[in-house]
Amino acid sequence: MRVPEQVKRLAVVIAVIVAGVLVTRFYAIPRSLVSNELHRSSTIQQELAKPVKFAGSEICQGCHEAEAIKKNKSFHRNLS
Ligand code: HEC
Repeated sequence: MRVPEQVKRLAVVIAVIVAGVLVTRFYAIPRSLVSNELHRSSTIQQELAKPVKFAGSEICQGCHEAEAIKKNKSFHRNLS
């Protein structure tokens, strides 16, 4: 089968574009810009550095109002 000339030229152009993208992605762009390991590890460090403390039930009431009302009417009303 004979491949038309314009298809050959188009294949060369596509090959050059693909090669350019691959070279840029794997060689030109520094690893720190494409890797999210640095971002993740810094986020984990940031979260681990926060002090662990008891929140208390007042913190929960903002979102769990129905549970707070139920708790405040129960025998557990004096628990924090
Ligand atoms: C910023 C809002 C917010 C705060 C503050 C909050 N919650 Fe929640 N909580 C939610 C949401 C949203 C859900 C998911 C509800 C659902 O999926 O129906 C949830 C779900 C829960 C569930 C699971 C309920 C179930 O049926 O599976 C528990 C248990 C719970 N919260 C306890 C607490 C406790 C204890 C506190 C306080 C230390 C607290 N929450 C503070 C928003 C909050």
